[in-house]
Amino acid sequence: RKKLLVDVDCGVDDAQAIMMALAAPNVEVLGITCVHGNTSLENVCKNTLRVLQVCGRLEIPVFRGAAKPILGNVICAGQFHGQDGLGDVPDPQAPGLDMVQKEGAISAMIRIVNENPNEVSLVATAPLTNLALAVRMDPSFPSKLKGLYIMGGNTESRGNTTSCAEFNFAADPEAAYMVLKDFMCPTYIACWEFTCYSKLPWSWCDDWLAQQSEKARFMERIFSHSIEFSNSERSRAEMVDGMGFVSCDSYAMAAAIDDEFVTRSDKVAVSVELTGTHTRGMMVLDTLGILKKTHKAFVVRKVNMERFEQLMMDGLR
Ligand code: BDR
Ligand code: CA
Repeated sequence: RKKLLVDVDCGVDDAQAIMMALAAPNVEVLGITCVHGNTSLENVCKNTLRVLQVCGRLEIPVFRGAAKPILGNVICAGQFHGQDGLGDVPDPQAPGLDMVQKEGAISAMIRIVNENPNEVSLVATAPLTNLALAVRMDPSFPSKLKGLYIMGGNTESRGNTTSCAEFNFAADPEAAYMVLKDFMCPTYIACWEFTCYSKLPWSWCDDWLAQQSEKARFMERIFSHSIEFSNSERSRAEMVDGMGFVSCDSYAMAAAIDDEFVTRSDKVAVSVELTGTHTRGMMVLDTLGILKKTHKAFVVRKVNMERFEQLMMDGLR
């Protein structure tokens, strides 16, 4: 079975991605590390436990990581995910934070990968702070990974957070820069515009939520806030190529789960703008090789959408 470590800022689409992984019979989730992002780190930990609870998988260890980016202040994405990250719906049965492991996320990542050298794929669906800190703590960490799957960045300088930057990169540009510089393992990037081009019709989403399961009821509850936002003016403006259901983080997860999922990608060196007035946090594609970077990432361009629909459906079954 594929061994995965998942690094999340558990908002609604992170929850969808986690549920997809837990439902995949060929996948073993070794742990989930939490980081600031869509909401506060404490909310992220709590949300992750809530998702594991509804899936009956609370035995999977959850680790607390960085509460802030490498530089600057936390930015959250409450307008889409709700202030608490999961749609601001009450959940009196939520597991307590005492269920979070005592060991911190960075040392847990390094330990788990050392225990399973070249076997673990890391799926990062959040600001990359934990990964950047892990490679600072142990520079050999990336070389022991089987692969890295990132949701983040952009290819056409269309932002969803600033005019030019995607949320996960905008929330910690320095971390994204370090990861794209230092992680020499096979790296797949599902960026913002790609996820928008690969959206599903809202009618499909209705069928997805209409499944008869506790997981579907949970998803329906936490998702209603983002559905409302998705119909707003602001969302229309940020959406690339018309409206539809986009579960950004699930594309990176599907790529990690299924080797056949990505059908076309560009192999190109990538970096991140750190200083531009308007462009800080924007992903830079070095198509001409001018930066002389030896490591190239696979920037995902096309995927098997039938397979994606199936994996999403299975997640709530
Ligand atoms: C990314 O930003 C977050 O709000 C989502 O969870 C996703 O990881 C999309 O830009
Ligand atoms: Ca996320």
